[in-house]
Amino acid sequence: MTTTALITGANKGIGFETARLLAARGITVLVGARDPKLGQAAAEKLHAEGAQAHFVRLDVTDRETIDHAAAWIGEEFGSLDILVNNAAIAGGDEGDWKPSTTSVASLRKVFETNVFGVIAVTNAVLPLLRRAEAARIVNVSSEVGSLAGMMDRNGPMWPMTGIPYPSSKTALNMVTVMYAKELWDTGIKVNAANPGYCATDLNGNSGFRAAEQGAEPTVHLATLPADGPSGQLWGYLWGQDAYGPLSW
Ligand SMILES: NC(=O)c1ccc[n+]([C@@H]2O[C@H](COP(=O)([O-])OP(=O)(O)OC[C@H]3O[C@@H](n4cnc5c(N)ncnc54)[C@H](OP(=O)(O)O)[C@@H]3O)[C@@H](O)[C@H]2O)c1
Repeated sequence: MTTTALITGANKGIGFETARLLAARGITVLVGARDPKLGQAAAEKLHAEGAQAHFVRLDVTDRETIDHAAAWIGEEFGSLDILVNNAAIAGGDEGDWKPSTTSVASLRKVFETNVFGVIAVTNAVLPLLRRAEAARIVNVSSEVGSLAGMMDRNGPMWPMTGIPYPSSKTALNMVTVMYAKELWDTGIKVNAANPGYCATDLNGNSGFRAAEQGAEPTVHLATLPADGPSGQLWGYLWGQDAYGPLSW
């Protein structure tokens, strides 16, 4: 039986490596990407490595592509086993580094992709996830969304002050918890992954972990057994060089 995984923003970075690692486990990966050329190239690269990979055009801020992708997956596969909401943007407008100079427009832009996009995609494919035997939803979040981490004066995140990206991940954490609760009795597990600080285009390749390492927590949560947790933020623990649950 085919196990399928849809990964948004899978043409590069952590999303691409997630697709690669899931494919290596024999899972058919649906490579979501907003740019057809980049998405097709990523799917072909995975295919050349022996993966069952298909490009799916998916801009998480574009209703039409979301509905089209969900309909296509339904027609091709009938159900969906794994949804990885990975696509995100950092924002990074000039004023975004301090609350006092943040524009509502840049905040809106970041939330449109990092939060609203996740809900739009999840709701569109939820009927397909419900048809799978034991579906998993992984929302790729971040330690910078952790309120506890952000307020730790001795922690690595204390110097950060920007609102848009961190608050989008805090919102995503709550979104994760709410889906976990709604789907509690269905067998569908919903968790948030923390990749750790990885070198990708999102941060000008400044991270100290590789994108492939960043994909590991997502793959763990996407392949949880029946007795695994739901409603957790789980992944890289900064300073401990280990994986585990993080405080919200
Ligand atoms: N890198 C880190 O240190 C780090 C740490 C914690 C969490 N994360 C999270 O990890 C995830 C992956 O990030 P990354 O570091 O791999 O960044 P990345 O290399 O910049 O990749 C982001 C991906 O999201 C896609 N994307 C952006 N907006 C989209 C939209 N509207 N619709 C569909 N796809 C869209 C991008 O597509 P295009 O190529 O078309 O732009 C790209 O494929 C994100 O959720 C990020 O917040 C990253």
